[in-house]
Amino acid sequence: MDIHTTKKLNNGVEIPYLGFGTLRCKDDDETINAVRWAIEAGYRHIDTAAGYGNEKSVGQAIHNSGVDRKEVFVTTKLKPDDDMLPGAQMKAFEKSLNLLQLDYIDLYLIHWPVAGKTLEAWKGMEEIYKSGRARAIGVCNFSEIHFTELFHDAKVKPAINQIELHPHLSLQSLVAYCEKQGIAVEAWSPLGGDGGKLLDAPVLKNIAVKHGKSVAQVILRWDLQRGIITIPKSTHQTRIKENANLYDFGLSSAEIKTINDLDKDPRRFGRDPNSMEPQNRCYLVLRLYAV
Ligand code: A2P
Repeated sequence: MDIHTTKKLNNGVEIPYLGFGTLRCKDDDETINAVRWAIEAGYRHIDTAAGYGNEKSVGQAIHNSGVDRKEVFVTTKLKPDDDMLPGAQMKAFEKSLNLLQLDYIDLYLIHWPVAGKTLEAWKGMEEIYKSGRARAIGVCNFSEIHFTELFHDAKVKPAINQIELHPHLSLQSLVAYCEKQGIAVEAWSPLGGDGGKLLDAPVLKNIAVKHGKSVAQVILRWDLQRGIITIPKSTHQTRIKENANLYDFGLSSAEIKTINDLDKDPRRFGRDPNSMEPQNRCYLVLRLYAV
């Protein structure tokens, strides 16, 4: 396995396991530099979103890199706002294409489930997929209940579920469910995000010292060995390189289990997709009864 190793999605498209995340990156030179450093370090998978507001900078960095467009796997996402309304997806997608200065996207994702809107929005996603300008489509932040609802109507199965996933939130039953459904799992905020303090966890530090690696590297290796696509973010060149230097060591199954066990103390650092408005919960229950 190396930085170019890919996972085959359920439609045959190949995605590099290691990607570069840009959550919390702004539309500015810092982001342009970070994406440039990532590509220089060998990353060939860049993740952005309309909702991050940084697509222009991400696109500029990809263009400036001189690397062939076909060599870089680019993901962006549909915003969970009016862009989720019926018929709005193609326009939103084209806006992302324009900002990124690209004529196709490798992976286009619904950013958050929005009760009452997701099913119609997925129809728009399917249209985009059929147009050939998104090589794969998928979702983010879905749990089993959201998939049950989606499968009721969907013609194209999502290729990916991108979720908050790290040692304090390993979501093992959701991961097993996605695997059974042929939906690849991708971890956002794999290092615990901004204020997670995950990198200070003594259990992880012990494993890192044993391997002569950093805690960040141990966490990312834990993702890779479990078949999880992972997209660490950093705006520091040394960390960007460090997070790509994952291929000269391996975790034992006992170490993987030790890391898995951190989930006994679950901590979510981002928004919880299951804590929805009460009226949305009612809507979902009604939909499920209708299945
Ligand atoms: P920075 O951009 O200042 O390097 P996520 O879990 O969402 O990928 O976020 C990771 C967070 O941890 C970021 O805020 C990033 O901050 C920081 N980070 C990324 N890589 C490393 C690393 N190798 N060591 C320490 N901190 C890191």
